[in-house]
Amino acid sequence: MPATALLAVSSSSKVAGTLRSAGSSVWTKDELIALVREQLLGHKLILVSNREPYVHRWVDGRIEVQQPASGMAAALDPILRVCGGVWIAHGAGDADRETVNERNEVCVPPFDPKYTLRRVWLTEQQEHDYYYGCSNQIIWPLCHVVFTRPLFEQRYWDAYREVNQLFADAVLDEAADQPALVFIQDYHFALLPRMLKERNPNLIVAQFWHIPWPTAEIFRVFPWGEEMLDGMLGNDLMGFHLRYHSRNFADSVRMGIEARADQTGFDLTRNGHTTLVRAFPISIDFEEFSALGDSAEVAAERENWVRELKLEGKLVGAGIDRIDYTKGIPERLRAFNRLLERSPEYRERLVFVQIGVPSRGEIPDYHALDDEITNLVREINKRWGTRTWKPVALCKGQYNAAEMVALHRLANFFVVSSLHDGMNLVAKEFAASRTDGDGVLVLSRFAGAAREMSQALLVNPFAVEELATAYRTALEMPEEERRRRMRKLRTTLKQNNIYRWASELLSALLRLE
Ligand code: G6P
Repeated sequence: MPATALLAVSSSSKVAGTLRSAGSSVWTKDELIALVREQLLGHKLILVSNREPYVHRWVDGRIEVQQPASGMAAALDPILRVCGGVWIAHGAGDADRETVNERNEVCVPPFDPKYTLRRVWLTEQQEHDYYYGCSNQIIWPLCHVVFTRPLFEQRYWDAYREVNQLFADAVLDEAADQPALVFIQDYHFALLPRMLKERNPNLIVAQFWHIPWPTAEIFRVFPWGEEMLDGMLGNDLMGFHLRYHSRNFADSVRMGIEARADQTGFDLTRNGHTTLVRAFPISIDFEEFSALGDSAEVAAERENWVRELKLEGKLVGAGIDRIDYTKGIPERLRAFNRLLERSPEYRERLVFVQIGVPSRGEIPDYHALDDEITNLVREINKRWGTRTWKPVALCKGQYNAAEMVALHRLANFFVVSSLHDGMNLVAKEFAASRTDGDGVLVLSRFAGAAREMSQALLVNPFAVEELATAYRTALEMPEEERRRRMRKLRTTLKQNNIYRWASELLSALLRLE
């Protein structure tokens, strides 16, 4: 059913033959809109993720809307704003219930509504076991190979199954009996595709895995591996950032479950249903970040940073991350310490600004990391700081886009030192906002972004000496070289934007590739 259904969708369209060839030039919003209108032919778009793109919270007796720190949510919101449809997600904000209608829906973005957000409610216990437990203490450390041991608790997996079922109910209710394309995000929903297909085989189902997929040798320790792989093979299309992750997934399937692969190894058939496994490196809205980089709002925020952190006349290094043990924050601080040890000429001249967005606070490993970072910063500042110079400014909290882009614009060098990362969109946001053509990106080789962004200074973040050398290289790089590298990074990103990602994914799903 799926394959013929997909072909029926595309073949009845007049534009199938006129679709541009991917990679030819820059994909725009308008082209994505045309593709969606002309190819989906009345199919309803239903996106599913755990994290919602807009959260309502009580702040000082008033309801405020916030955008969470999630690369996934930031990347998908422009797509839904362009395509319309329904986004189903966990309602996690303490004012979320006050802002929905009787169908648990609210129109977003609040200032300019373009699509519907439907919230699914979880009990505290479900959130604890499915989100903090299974998603973030089992699957997250299993997929990110940074030597954090997954906590294989049976009750976490049971809750995961239960919550996937709750989301399946919401999707099936939204789709009713009309044609629909369901686009599932991430590792919170490995069982959902199969649940959907069993109850409504006419749905077109695709999933994108925003984090790495480990090698088969690592995946084989997962106690419920067969059930998980079977769930994911309910998809018509399974997307990863890199071909390497797709290959690892196909290997895990080959080793773990009954399924047949075609000669490419990437079309997997189980019980007569084929799942295409493909790589689509996700990106950002390049134009939006460029425009923000040039805005007066960012210029004003830049002044604020300079004033508040006493950055006038200083060289600046910077990093922006969720406080997560995959991001390599202690490693980057140790490297900064090492730089000050090795290169006295930078003392009193250089400030490192680290934004740390609190994340997954219930998990002990995250607490321990938060403490480790605070202590490290304290030690560095105590060791090197003077009356007029604080070497590291640690800014914990939520920051808006303008504040973060202002920090990009201030940075002489910007550090993304993930120990393992599916893509890392912060690296792309940094380069996109540098319309001034300057600034150096120090980027981990173990972030998916390194494949496209080879003009960055690529480093092994586990190697503190190497990282410290990269900072120095960045600080001493001649302007001409900085500009040449940044120009190339921006040219690549301009082409590989979020609209291209979505268009290519959709084209693959509709078998137009
Ligand atoms: C990663 C995941 C996203 C997630 C984000 C933030 O980027 O791929 O799905 O939303 O981290 O994590 P959180 O647990 O706060 O949603």
